[in-house]
Amino acid sequence: MCIKKFPVLIDVDTGVDDALALTAACACPQFDIIGVTTVAGNVDLKYTTKNTMNVLHLLGRDDIPVAAGADGPLERPLIRASAVHGVEGLRGFQFEENYTDSLVDEDAVTFLWNKLKSQKEKVTIIALAPLTNIARLILSHEDCGEYIEKIVFMGTSYHDGNPSPIVTFNVLVDPEALRIVLDSKIEFCAVPLDVTRQCYLTPEEIGMIGKDQGVISQFAHSILTHYGSGYLTEKEREAINAKGNEEQITATKTAEENARVSLHDPATVAFAACPDMFTARKYFAMVECKGEITTGFTLIDKRNFYAKQPEEMNILFAETVDRERMINWFISAIKSYN
Ligand code: RIB
Ligand code: CA
Repeated sequence: MCIKKFPVLIDVDTGVDDALALTAACACPQFDIIGVTTVAGNVDLKYTTKNTMNVLHLLGRDDIPVAAGADGPLERPLIRASAVHGVEGLRGFQFEENYTDSLVDEDAVTFLWNKLKSQKEKVTIIALAPLTNIARLILSHEDCGEYIEKIVFMGTSYHDGNPSPIVTFNVLVDPEALRIVLDSKIEFCAVPLDVTRQCYLTPEEIGMIGKDQGVISQFAHSILTHYGSGYLTEKEREAINAKGNEEQITATKTAEENARVSLHDPATVAFAACPDMFTARKYFAMVECKGEITTGFTLIDKRNFYAKQPEEMNILFAETVDRERMINWFISAIKSYN
């Protein structure tokens, strides 16, 4: 039973699954969402910020302040996922107008630091994007950990990956940022791709969402049915090629896998809201930042080859999920706006 209410900050690179994650998060009675920060990742910062404000406006949550953050990783050129989400990040849905009133003047790091200090209790940060903003917060304010309950991150993997066999996107974009977070001693929970891939919607479940005539159900159905590189248009491909630094889509999936939609970011929100839907264990983790083919690989030392003490275990690593519970939780959240 998920009943405890606590303060939450959410960091996003709003593309499709971030938008669905924000939708689920805003329906969570236990979350007091005190702010959302944006970062470049799936698409450019101007689009992730625009999408975030428009989605929150659609959800009736103009009360949630939005702060824009980094327009690229700490040290590397940006890799986008435009083929998956669309050049502007929300392929399949066009907002009537752009809502910008929720944008604050502060940059994301200043905003995060001020919000953390303003709360009476420690804040949970839900990180659904490359960790650039979070790493910059840690670099700028070394005592920020005193104000953070935990960071719940969508990313890492044990032996899986997207868009490479062993690397997940949110780490591939900024592996140096993850290293800073892992070394920070802040409570760090990761929902890896091995688990988020299990949190998929079947075509039937997507169809069920589409049958609901509510505005939010229709929004969710529109972006769900245009999500993935299989929907890449020729016009988009030209725009993407002109930008460069796009992620290389190499994954070959079965027709059944293509029909399913993995809810990577919503699954991470679910872990923060109702961790009892998952199992997780503490391990020691490292991230490769200099590999020729392994940059972004996350080493999860499940057998403790490095002989670390319990206090050196720097990751709470989600390992299983009750898919049915998680999907029911997600669909109920979507329908709760009716
Ligand atoms: O690998 C999936 C993650 O990368 C999700 O957070 C998605 O939004 C992208 O940022
Ligand atoms: Ca994301």
